[in-house]
Amino acid sequence: RKPRIAVIGSNMVDLVTYVDRMPARGETVEAPSFEIGHGGKGANQAIAAAKLGAEVLMVTKVGDDMFADNTIRNLQKFGVDTKYVERVPGKPSGVAPIMVEPSGENSILIVKGANADLSPADVQRAAADLKTCDLILLQLEVPLETVYEALAFGKANGVKTLLNPAPATPGLDRSKVSEASFFVPNESELAILTGMPVETEAHIADAAKSLVAQGVGTVIVTMGARGALLVTKTQVERIEPISVKAVDTTGAGDAFVGSFARYFAAGESLQSALGRAVRYAADSVTRRGTQKAYATEAEFAKFCEGLGG
Ligand code: RIB
Ligand code: NA
Repeated sequence: RKPRIAVIGSNMVDLVTYVDRMPARGETVEAPSFEIGHGGKGANQAIAAAKLGAEVLMVTKVGDDMFADNTIRNLQKFGVDTKYVERVPGKPSGVAPIMVEPSGENSILIVKGANADLSPADVQRAAADLKTCDLILLQLEVPLETVYEALAFGKANGVKTLLNPAPATPGLDRSKVSEASFFVPNESELAILTGMPVETEAHIADAAKSLVAQGVGTVIVTMGARGALLVTKTQVERIEPISVKAVDTTGAGDAFVGSFARYFAAGESLQSALGRAVRYAADSVTRRGTQKAYATEAEFAKFCEGLGG
């Protein structure tokens, strides 16, 4: 059967301005272009997995505005099951004003809107369907108590969970985090959680090992243009990067998580699924936007062929 993935998390509408340079405080600067697109870390990961052929179920909340219907329609267009997508009366949908510089690097503001109402009860409401999934994906754009509920649910029911602790959030409870089967931070998120240095690869490995010692099964540290580091009880392994010309790096982390989930849930080894995730994320930064920049399974196969392997 197809890999079955649940995402309990956010959806946002991305309002992306491509700038020549960032304005200083009090300054007005003209920017060359603007694009609107579907984003939000949860929805991005869901769409990446769905575009790659997984069966995806999303538990999320939209607002009571012009963005809500579009968001639901967009999820459905890519085959995501929206049975557990709820509207919150009187609240706006989540939005993310984003600026992307010519280097492809971004600055993001998030306004959670209805995402702030995703509650532990919403996890319980979806329980019967969540139990049928291979993997549950979690991020930090919804209330922490909801994320903790989902981690505990996964542990109690034998469903694997993956926590991507983004955006970086101080005050994460380490004992709750240790319930995750997979913990997938970038370097700064790892530093915030562990309070340990992450300047060198050896530092990063040590910080990741401290989490493994606390019970996290597998830590995968994403290191941008330097690839990723896989740390388990018995191994520390670097996943080599792919070099591409970055146009817009927004959502690359989500592309990584969604594609890793899809291939791991399909039964591939950690190394193999991570190798694919590094490639999928690299491909996504060569195009503007988040979800719309994610390749379909056929497009991704072509990209990999072009790499010669
Ligand atoms: O990770 C990228 C995402 O972060 C964007 O799509 C934006 O919506 C913010 O949530
Ligand atoms: Na992109």
